[in-house]
Parts: sequence; structure tokens; C-alpha cells
Amino acid sequence: MADSQIRFGLIGFGAWGNFHAGAIAKTEGAELAAIAAASQASCAAAREAYPKAAVYSDYRELVRRDDIDVVDVVVPSHLHHAIASAVLAAGKHLLLEKPMALSIRECDDLIALARKYDRLIGIGHELRLSSLWTKVKDLVDGGFVGEPQYALVELSRRPYRLGSQNWRYDIGRVGNWILEEPIHFFDLVRWYFESLGEPHTIYATANSKQPDRPELQDNFSAIVHFPRGAYAVISQTLSAFEHHQTVKLTGTKGALWASWSGAMDRTPHPTFALRAFDGERVEEVLIDKITGEVYELEDQMTMLVEAIRNGRPLSCTAEDGRWSVAMCLAAQQSVETGRPALIADVLPADV
Ligand SMILES: NC(=O)c1ccc[n+]([C@@H]2O[C@H](COP(=O)([O-])OP(=O)(O)OC[C@H]3O[C@@H](n4cnc5c(N)ncnc54)[C@H](OP(=O)(O)O)[C@@H]3O)[C@@H](O)[C@H]2O)c1
Repeated sequence: MADSQIRFGLIGFGAWGNFHAGAIAKTEGAELAAIAAASQASCAAAREAYPKAAVYSDYRELVRRDDIDVVDVVVPSHLHHAIASAVLAAGKHLLLEKPMALSIRECDDLIALARKYDRLIGIGHELRLSSLWTKVKDLVDGGFVGEPQYALVELSRRPYRLGSQNWRYDIGRVGNWILEEPIHFFDLVRWYFESLGEPHTIYATANSKQPDRPELQDNFSAIVHFPRGAYAVISQTLSAFEHHQTVKLTGTKGALWASWSGAMDRTPHPTFALRAFDGERVEEVLIDKITGEVYELEDQMTMLVEAIRNGRPLSCTAEDGRWSVAMCLAAQQSVETGRPALIADVLPADV
């Protein structure tokens, strides 16, 4: 394809959609051609911030335009399937925020539509583009720790935001709270342990500060079992402050300890570090590119432009997005039953 601008449409102009708009606008080779939001207030804000973009209060008008190459969908999670389906059926490439959808059936529908219309689906698991978390992956894949056997992914943060019309605190619209933030960590450990094969069993537990709303899981922990006896622990609390994430990963030869901290997840001024132990000595690993979700968002847009133009591989495919949804659904099943859940049990029988 010639190096003409890739024209983006953006659906959803809330807290995270605003950052998506900024990232698209900054990306070389990308043009933010149109934005759709629900309320008049958000449409007015979009018009003011991006006067060159057409703004719609009905996303179907954006999707119908024949001069848009890719649509970026950043709406409440219960709307992902319907809006993403309309985008693909209109013959546009799709960048879809996590969770890919709220059920495996919905994920499978989107994968089938992308095949039918020969379109790309990128899923917004941006940790896979981070200089810090990618360095951990490179060291693991390069054999630095030997065979990976154990990982702890831990997040301490402030409570979730309510979201537009409080969607995030309504299980009918958010799906479950594991699909909100822990989904990134399920994706991360599956990526780190890729050489071992797919995870098979999850045991999870959670509790809530509100006894009458146990579904609002302020504290959540899960053990994910992989082949060859390897396992990963994912643990998150929403009852803390700021945003602090660590990954501690060990193998038969060595260990890695990575950490990221910010006043909030989207801070432009994070601190981060990676320490590596080869079995004999500990070294600080230089991470020379700043990392944080606002930076990875820009890298995601560049990746998409290059994927559309030159076939650059996507860091997180629809199949990966589907896997992380499956892991979250299995974890939720385990929380509800109090027993380990087989991931195979949440997947359709024919897969
Ligand atoms: N990858 C990440 O790290 C990350 C981070 C944050 C969020 N997310 C995901 O991104 C998505 C959005 O989250 P958010 O925090 O931005 O939520 P939010 O602040 O509540 O924003 C949601 C936006 O969607 C718009 N919307 C709702 N229905 C719509 C429709 N039918 N057509 C067009 N726009 C519609 C809302 O419009 P109004 O403003 O007019 O109501 C609002 O602008 C969620 O799926 C979330 O899980 C991912």
C-alpha cells in the first residue's frame, strides 16, 4: 500500500477514548478522521478538541463512511461485540479495547467476521508493547532464567472509576471485574510462559468491601497452572493508593524482578526498574524507553498503521484476546464455586 495517511475513526470519547484520540493524532501516518460518542457533552468535547474530525452521536454514521480504514473502539465493555461487529461487517480494520468481548461466543463471532471480510483485529493489551514488560519477555525467551516455573504479578491501586453512566460498577455492563484489570495480567503470564504451552486450570478467590455486593471484587487473587508444573499467581487490590505493579518471575536458573509505579495508571511520569539474577549475581537492566499505558497507546497506533501498510504483526491478536477472556471467565467460575476451574470448560466443545 502507498504511504498515504491511514484514516482512523474512533468510537468512544470517555476517559480512555480521550487518550486514544491524542495517540492517533500524534501518530505519523495516521489521521483522526471521525469520532463518535453517545452524549451531546462528549460530542461537543470531541468537536472542540479535534475540530478537523467529523463528530457523530450515532456510531453507525461513522461506520458507514467509506473513507475510513480502521476503527478504534473504546466504549463500555458490554458494547464491544455489537459495535466491533458493525465495524468489521463494514469492511474496516478494528482496534478493540480489552476485554475483547464478554463471552467466548462473542469473541468467536468477531474472529469469524474478521476472516470473512479479511480485516485485522488488534486487541488493547498494551502491556505487550511496554519496554519494561517486553524486556522481561525477551529475557525469559532468551533462556536467562532457564525454564520459567513461577511468576507473581501483583497490582496495588486505587479503586476503579465509575465510567460513563456508572457502567463499570454494573456487572451487566462490565461482565465481571476480572475482565477489567486482571485481564491484562492473565494475558501477560500466558505470554511469558508461551514456551511451555497453554494454561489449563485456574483457582481464584476474591472479596469485597461491600457485603451486599460481592461481585465488586476489591481484592482478587488467582493461581494459573501451565504445563510442566509451572504456575503464575495474579493478585490485585483496589483498596490501596496510586498504581504499583510488580512482576517477579523465577526459573530453573535465575530470577527477574520488574516494577512500575505511578500516581495513577496513566501518569506521564512513572518510575520503573528491572533487576535480573542469573543464579550468581544481580544486575540492574537498563530500560531506556519510557513505559506506561499512555506511551504504549502511541506505540499501538504506530503498530496498527504499519500492520495495515506493510503487514507488521500485531502484538496481541484476536486469538490472544479470546484467550484472556477465557482465562477471566474460568477465574470468575472458580471464585463462584470455590473450586479450581478448567479453562477448557469455558471454551466451546468444538474448539
Ligand atoms: N487497555 C487499557 O489499559 C484500558 C484502560 C481503560 C479502559 N479500557 C477499556 O476501554 C473501554 C472504555 O473505557 P473508559 O474508561 O474510557 O470508559 P468511559 O470513560 O466510561 O468512556 C466510555 C465512552 O464510551 C461512549 N459510549 C457509550 N456508548 C456509546 C455508543 N453507543 N456509541 C458511541 N460511544 C459510546 C461514552 O459516551 P458518553 O461520554 O457520551 O457517555 C464514553 O465516551 C472499556 O472497555 C475499558 O475496559 C482499557
